Amino acid sequence: MTLSDEKKIIIAVDGYSSCGKSTVAKEIARQLNYVFIDSGAMYRAVTLFCLRNGLIVDGAVNLPALQDKLSSISVSFIYNPATSHNDVCLNGGNVEQEIRQLAVAQHVSQVAAIAGVRQLLVAQQQEMGRSKGIVMDGRDIGTVVFPEAELKIFMTADTRIRALRRYDEMIAKNEPVNFEEILKNITERDRYDETRAESPLRRAKDAIVLDNSIMTREEQFKWVLEKVEERIKKL
Ligand code: DC
Repeated sequence: MTLSDEKKIIIAVDGYSSCGKSTVAKEIARQLNYVFIDSGAMYRAVTLFCLRNGLIVDGAVNLPALQDKLSSISVSFIYNPATSHNDVCLNGGNVEQEIRQLAVAQHVSQVAAIAGVRQLLVAQQQEMGRSKGIVMDGRDIGTVVFPEAELKIFMTADTRIRALRRYDEMIAKNEPVNFEEILKNITERDRYDETRAESPLRRAKDAIVLDNSIMTREEQFKWVLEKVEERIKKL
């Protein structure tokens, strides 16, 4: 019997930005035959909705206008056979590529700090975990979305190492880069995520810390799979 045949659990993967949470969560879900959900993609999709509908003016979200429109926002996922992953959809349209654009990245922290947006998305995320067998990555998965998750991983890594990884990724994509700017952006995003009033980034008391500063991807996958195995044995 393999791990994927065992009783299904919920795995929450939280942590700082640019720590490789999605890489780990995706691979673990693949190996266990679980559903992988990138909750950050949902906040990005709502941000795209705001941009498309003129709800961000001079860099600030028009709160009353967004509140009025919240009920007309539907975020869902559709399986993409080409990548074997779920693409995020906004009101039925696939926006997986568009949500990675700079304009979205620049405003998503602000949108993710809005209580009404969090309520809407957390309710959907909890619904997705109803039948378990899910790996979800984000900032508040182990603390707010699934406080009862059977396994909680909190990922972190040295800030300069994270910045260097992001720098290498951008160089590989031929994007213009400046290391100091990346480092500043990562530091600012961490601070914003940790200090916001709504569901700030916190390690759940029962989360296991994975500091991957000097670990390869394979070492991280192995480490998490061992934790899954240990946890399932205890059920
Ligand atoms: O993981 P990411 O960089 O795609 O996340 C985008 C933004 O959404 C980031 O500002 C943190 C926020 N986020 C959040 O507040 N809660 C989550 N569960 C996931 C992401």
